[in-house]
Amino acid sequence: MIKALYTVIENTPLAVKTFRMVLEPTLSFRSGGEISPRGEFVHIAVPGFYLRRPLSVCDCEDGKLTVVYKVVGEGTKVLSETRVGTVLEVLTGLGRGFDLDACRQDALLVGGGLGVPPLYLLAKELKARGKKVRAVLGFNKADEIILAEEFRSVCDEVVISTADGSFGVKGFVTDALKALCPPYDYYYTCGPMVMMRAVCATLEGPGEASLEERMGCGAGFCYGCSIETKNGPRRVCKDGPVFKMEELAW
Ligand SMILES: Cc1cc2nc3c(=O)[nH]c(=O)nc-3n(C[C@H](O)[C@H](O)[C@H](O)COP(=O)(O)OP(=O)(O)OC[C@H]3O[C@@H](n4cnc5c(N)ncnc54)[C@H](O)[C@@H]3O)c2cc1C
Ligand code: FES
Repeated sequence: MIKALYTVIENTPLAVKTFRMVLEPTLSFRSGGEISPRGEFVHIAVPGFYLRRPLSVCDCEDGKLTVVYKVVGEGTKVLSETRVGTVLEVLTGLGRGFDLDACRQDALLVGGGLGVPPLYLLAKELKARGKKVRAVLGFNKADEIILAEEFRSVCDEVVISTADGSFGVKGFVTDALKALCPPYDYYYTCGPMVMMRAVCATLEGPGEASLEERMGCGAGFCYGCSIETKNGPRRVCKDGPVFKMEELAW
């Protein structure tokens, strides 16, 4: 775990109540060492709040981190009002991220809503390793779609579904999966719990899911994010947030 200061260099609206924030390590930190988030979420200290807020890493290039977040409460509202130039304290190197070696050749990424951002970094990394990457991304409606172009620029195929049919395949990601039957030898999913459960029931074969839980410390100490798995209780922040499907007790 690394505690560091990052400067906000972009904080722009992407879709309804949804923002992209780009964070650059401060000069002092950059000269102090390498920045490489090993996990797939960061824990951001929001000014005025005691507890940090966990956000998935959507992209990471030259030490700059991109997060994409939706305003759902007071903490994310303050983040959305944070000006370029503000310095935020961020914990990186947390948790256990996606297993890139688990996919032999054909990766299937299934994301829903704000579960889509971490799959972008995953898609980039899988592509860099020469894998075929297909993504099925689900949203409620057209004006909630995020990162479609970014995914198209790195994936071999991108299918978008909307629950109300305002764009792409009408229905849930599972409807798109049933209709299109994309080939894969391993799947990765991130999104609302109910969606991931349905994905797990729809798809055959091995895969993994990135979970979300309310977090306290975010670093494995408080056990506030414990979930019950087939192997006993596990902490989402430390043992996850990514878990193998066979481990999850849905
Ligand atoms: C590992 C991880 C990665 C995440 N990645 C992203 C991301 O990339 N983009 C994004 O928009 N959000 C993400 N979240 C959720 C994000 O952390 C919460 O939305 C945020 O902390 C809410 O803060 P708030 O102060 O605005 O809302 P609060 O006032 O704390 O809560 C507002 C509402 O959101 C619900 N909520 C808050 N935190 C969570 C949570 N962790 N899981 C489910 N519901 C929650 C509350 O129950 C409440 O209904 C992630 C969460 C985890 C655990
Ligand atoms: S949030 Fe404290 S152990 Fe996970």
